[in-house]
Amino acid sequence: MNSAPVTALPHPTESADPGAFARPDRIHVTGGTPLSGQVTLRGAKNLVPKAMVAALLGSAPSVLRNVPQISDVRIVTGLLEAHGVTVRTGENRDELVLDPTSMDRADHAEITAHAGESRIPILLCGPLLHRIGHAFIPDLGGCRIGDRPIDFHLDALRAFGAIVDKRPDGLHIEAPQKLRGTKITLPYPSVGSTEQVLLTAVLAEGVTELRNAATEPEIVDLIAVLQKMGAIISVLDNRVIHITGVERLHGYVHRALPDRLEAASWACAALATGGDILVRGAQQGSMMTFLNMFRRVGGEFEVDDDPSAPGIRFWHPGDSLHALALETDVHPGFQTDWQQPLVVALTQAQGLSIVHETVYEKRLGFTSALISMGAQVQLYRECLGGTPCRFGQRNFMHSAVISGPTKLHAADLEIPDLRAGFSYLIAALAAQGTSTVHGISLINRGYEDFADKLNALGARFEFGAPSES
Ligand code: EPZ
Repeated sequence: MNSAPVTALPHPTESADPGAFARPDRIHVTGGTPLSGQVTLRGAKNLVPKAMVAALLGSAPSVLRNVPQISDVRIVTGLLEAHGVTVRTGENRDELVLDPTSMDRADHAEITAHAGESRIPILLCGPLLHRIGHAFIPDLGGCRIGDRPIDFHLDALRAFGAIVDKRPDGLHIEAPQKLRGTKITLPYPSVGSTEQVLLTAVLAEGVTELRNAATEPEIVDLIAVLQKMGAIISVLDNRVIHITGVERLHGYVHRALPDRLEAASWACAALATGGDILVRGAQQGSMMTFLNMFRRVGGEFEVDDDPSAPGIRFWHPGDSLHALALETDVHPGFQTDWQQPLVVALTQAQGLSIVHETVYEKRLGFTSALISMGAQVQLYRECLGGTPCRFGQRNFMHSAVISGPTKLHAADLEIPDLRAGFSYLIAALAAQGTSTVHGISLINRGYEDFADKLNALGARFEFGAPSES
């Protein structure tokens, strides 16, 4: 492991752009300029916080590279520090050194204060049970895109032998004895629940068989982290994962995979604004389903796999875009997090597009703001466009028909969740006039330096004056 000269480097919770987390929570965006230029991705928001949690399982420090400056990383840093883990910046700004050797119980009030709006705290359960025999999890935050229950997580923990006590202040979970490997079949291939099982099974006694597991690239990268730590994990066909528990895990050195969800967001920004964006770090292998859809809608892309600066260039070729039908799904299907930015681009496509959201029952709610900008979007309770899903009989508006192209005009927009937030920025950039987007701090949860990147791409915007209401 590297010995890092840390004295001159800031604490990991300090941003490279210290103003990023302190700016007014609204932005005025003037649309009509195609975004053009390049942006560089850092590690995936949906892997990095989990790899940080995995470091708790080690008996020695870990080094995580390619860490973005996003608020989810700040939240997990706070949570780990509350448990006595030392987290510091390594040799480079985007490197974290996590030392769990002095881990201890944390004060419940401190955990609650640090948990913030994140869902990551639930993933601390397995590591905390193994290391200190007890976990306290306050009410979870996260994007309001559905009910997002945690029943699969708790059932899995119970199957390992944990005792879960739900109290008014949160969940108190104990491991009265060493957790034991078990057989678990998830009712749905949930990303978080798969990670819960992995992070718990690696140090449990015996073998765990997980069926109906999620296999998103971020999960495969988490498995790579755990394997580097000494875990024994086999990914088999048909969503089956076998984990053989080991006595002890050591630290890891790992470079987080690039954020394919951010990459797709910039691709959609290029499409919706008629622009041309080179996304440095974007990888074809983890985005194939998105790339197919991007091509179907009429976008162009070019993959540069030169190892010195790999990336994908996305652009609008100038012809009219084509309407399409799409259904979100677990990997390798069309990722739900790609849906919102693509819907903005679909408002500019010729004809009727159909979007069936099958992962989060309320993730199409963000379209009401697009309608206020002039988009024609109709939501339906039925499963439109193919496969019936879990939400079909349950009264959720989870299908959309988008009729285009429509000229978007400026509006006042309130961000409801992370991806919707970025999508509203795209819509505002594609619209005529100046929109005000409120609640932009939510975007910091998953998009590093988004304002600097927008600036570099020629976007016209300014942060709202603090004196404004
Ligand atoms: C992860 O959320 C991501 N978040 C989400 O990204 C992503 O949209 C989602 O996976 C799907 O890919 C992080 O990685 C931090 P799930 P997660 O468990 O793990 C239901 C973004 O914008 N479910 O796969 O919480 C659940 O309600 C965010 O980057 C249960 O019913 O998602 C949902 O309908 C948003 N019970 C479905 O499963 C449970 O116990 C999939 O959720 C757990 C989940």
